[in-house]
Amino acid sequence: MSSTFDAGSRKVTVPEVLGRKWTPSCGVPRGKIVALTAYDYPTAHLLDEAGVDIVLVGDSLGMVLLGSENTLSVTVDETVHHTRAVRRGLRRALLVADMPYGSYHVDDSDAVRNALRMVKEGGAEAVKVEGGERRVDRIARLVEAEIPVMGHIGLTPQSIHALGGFRVQGKTTDAAEQLFRDARAVEAGGAFSIVLECIPRELAAEITRELHIPTIGIGAGPDCDGQILVLHDLIGLGVRAAPKFARRYANVAETISRAVSTYADDVRAGAFPADAEAYELSADVREQLAGRSLAGRPN
Ligand code: KIV
Repeated sequence: MSSTFDAGSRKVTVPEVLGRKWTPSCGVPRGKIVALTAYDYPTAHLLDEAGVDIVLVGDSLGMVLLGSENTLSVTVDETVHHTRAVRRGLRRALLVADMPYGSYHVDDSDAVRNALRMVKEGGAEAVKVEGGERRVDRIARLVEAEIPVMGHIGLTPQSIHALGGFRVQGKTTDAAEQLFRDARAVEAGGAFSIVLECIPRELAAEITRELHIPTIGIGAGPDCDGQILVLHDLIGLGVRAAPKFARRYANVAETISRAVSTYADDVRAGAFPADAEAYELSADVREQLAGRSLAGRPN
């Protein structure tokens, strides 16, 4: 079904995202929520101009930007730093900062303190935390501190060691039932939306039907209220292979490689810079300097 929703130029807010939840009584489609990751100013600006609704400074930055094996080493300082840059590029989109591993796992006060840094120093309008049932009280505590929370269940990359790898979740009856409990818990905690990552499409569709908050899928099929991808997978700028669910819309890596090779060839051949790319002295100064070395000593 093609979207009939016009992104327009109105600022996307948390209530606006909640209002985009599809319910049978809506009748007409309200337009799926379009979300992407960004980690810097220029890409944030491009995403905003293109009408993306939610920009997430994901802890995927550890992998796609900083070259780590997984997301676990990302710090609060790094996330604040990148969130601040993204903030400067956004006018319309809602800015969500990912709470890195360890930043909300110790206790409530630590979680609130770190989330407040995302808002006060980074300019985030919401934070994302991974985990379902076991995270319900923490989510509620953040919400109580006026910090909107986006949940994240299914394949939660911060649980990589516990999960044993990046794998599809919810494939057995028990695991599927746990996913439903997790989704309900995130909603009960007060989250305004929830990311469903790498789960069978039937489960995502059923969770989407059951919850009152929007679901945002990544590898969770077409029936969620919105979709999110890691920008580098979408534009083909990843160094590692992208997952099956990530559709590549461009090959920016190839464009960069070609541009850099051509630049290198031009420099080596003396073809860069050209006359038009160099600065020149005025005729007066050139004349005054004639007969002298540039170091000021007479010849
Ligand atoms: O870190 C991230 O980029 C994410 C999204 C993929 C949902 O959590």
